[in-house]
Amino acid sequence: MLNKMIADLLPYMPKKLIWQFSKRYIAGEGMEDGLEVSRKLNEQNIEVTIDLLGEFITSLDQAEENKKQYLDIIERFTSENIQGNFSLKPTMFGLLIDEEECYRHLREIVAKAAEKNNFVRIDMEDSQCVDIELELFKKLKKEFSGHVGLVIQAYLRRTLDDLLDFSNFPSNGHPLNFRLCKGIYVEPKQIAYKDYQEVRNHYLEDLELMFKNKMYAGIATHDKFLVEEAMKLIEKHQVPKSMYEFQMLYGVTPELRNSIVAAGHKMRVYVPFGKQWFNYSTRRLKENPEIASHIIKALFLKG
Ligand code: FDA
Repeated sequence: MLNKMIADLLPYMPKKLIWQFSKRYIAGEGMEDGLEVSRKLNEQNIEVTIDLLGEFITSLDQAEENKKQYLDIIERFTSENIQGNFSLKPTMFGLLIDEEECYRHLREIVAKAAEKNNFVRIDMEDSQCVDIELELFKKLKKEFSGHVGLVIQAYLRRTLDDLLDFSNFPSNGHPLNFRLCKGIYVEPKQIAYKDYQEVRNHYLEDLELMFKNKMYAGIATHDKFLVEEAMKLIEKHQVPKSMYEFQMLYGVTPELRNSIVAAGHKMRVYVPFGKQWFNYSTRRLKENPEIASHIIKALFLKG
């Protein structure tokens, strides 16, 4: 109840106050901020995936501008030898306005990453986007095999079937590369599992299927239970280090993150930056008021 009240009030709170909470999770507004955070993480033997904030645009001019920014980001981060790759949200390139246009932008970005021998991960957005994002990925995977990956959400009832469909997909010399996460959007119960443990169980079922089918797994979670169970599956299936990594969001559960790195597993941190941080933070919080408890701690306990 308190969480929901705080989440509802957020858009009306001063930006400066929201920043006190958000700065823990967002590198900053500019490319230099993203670079600085990435360098620090690289020094700790942690790779990054860079995300320019923004989503659900309302005009295609914004898509063009966002594409240019991503091309600049890829140029800059690769020339600075940052150990990392790139993540993007297709609705930032007009997915819900003009699918073809969105595909053209994504193709240009993935082509640029391929030219730099790098990699772009397509984030998965809410359920209205899932079919289209799966198709976009398949098309790009056929052309840029080792340079593009997708996110899969364990809370969706359809996910195991989607993964089974993928087990027949031509890999073109490079394994299919999926980041597996629980899923962050609020979806109806007809579409998504709601029970906490049920989502965990499906997460592990999906992960095991990925391992059995030799898919590369980005194990994206801060849930200690899932991390431990994932490690058991890695052991059970003798998954080589070249076929998985753990992933976490910037600023979340650093102790757990460091313990995974210390145990010798590859870790990648998702580093978001950009001017859109305010909309991003408030939208996430409105979607998921549970996170508001983290705001209370960030604002009042840690100053
Ligand atoms: P859970 O939410 O149960 O968190 C486990 C524990 O982690 C909590 O008990 C708490 O201690 C801590 N924690 C979690 N969030 C915290 C926070 N914000 N602040 C402080 N502590 C926190 N989703 C999606 O739909 N599409 C996508 O493309 C992506 N991409 C993505 C990339 C990466 C690298 C990660 C790690 C996550 C995503 N997600 C995502 C988000 C994902 O779906 C999910 O919502 C979050 O990871 C939270 O789920 P957990 O598995 O961490 O468990």
